[in-house]
Amino acid sequence: MRIEKFKLKKNKSKIICLTAYSKNFAEEIDKYTDLILVGDSLGSVLYNFNSTRKVTLNMMIEHSKSVRMGITKSLMIVDMPYNTYKNKNEALKNCKKVMKETKCHGVKLEGGKKIKNIVQHLIKNNIPVLGHLGIMPQSVKGNFKSKGKSLKERKQLMNDSILLEKIGVFGIVLECVEKSLAKKITNKISIPTIGIGSSNSCDGQILVTDDILGLTQSKIKFVKRYIDLRGHIRKAIKQFKTEVKNKKYPSKKYSY
Ligand code: KIV
Repeated sequence: MRIEKFKLKKNKSKIICLTAYSKNFAEEIDKYTDLILVGDSLGSVLYNFNSTRKVTLNMMIEHSKSVRMGITKSLMIVDMPYNTYKNKNEALKNCKKVMKETKCHGVKLEGGKKIKNIVQHLIKNNIPVLGHLGIMPQSVKGNFKSKGKSLKERKQLMNDSILLEKIGVFGIVLECVEKSLAKKITNKISIPTIGIGSSNSCDGQILVTDDILGLTQSKIKFVKRYIDLRGHIRKAIKQFKTEVKNKKYPSKKYSY
């Protein structure tokens, strides 16, 4: 039901998506989003990993359980981490576990033609799948370069998008796709495209919440920082320290 509602947003209103890794963040994010992704970006954001490949299924499940408690209205999607969808059977077993233990609405997998059979098998078994094309962090070795500059890459991205729609994914995240191609793909397919660094032509946008709040030191071109939350945290901690030192805290009001 939530997935159908999500799909209907295409060509009607921009689709708002953000990541969350825990309940308190999810509670606030949920008030404004259509989709909350428990992204495997948690590997770099929370655990300082240099690649999302080190994220485990267990980490995704535990963070997702926390996020689940904060969501009342958004679609909740969980990233399947690297090596958890190597073949049809493993993918189905792991996705079923994620869906059952986290009560999410669907999963996200990175890839196009290469994972066609796996995605088809999941969808046949009632696992809703969100696609992810363009830069696919689980496959990136070295620098993150934008996608869709060469003709070969453009053709492959367009073909993968058409293929994913055909086999039944309910939407596609386009990461760092050149803007005219992102527009072409968005116009060509009838399911929503969610851009991250792929221009405002996409049907929706997603960013890593910790980036937009200024909790990370991200220098990626497409990241806009909406607040310096680190600065606010520093200020509050400093004030706490001063008040304890000066015996201003706890005052009578905060004592039994
Ligand atoms: O892991 C993640 O957070 C993501 C996106 C931000 C799209 O895949």
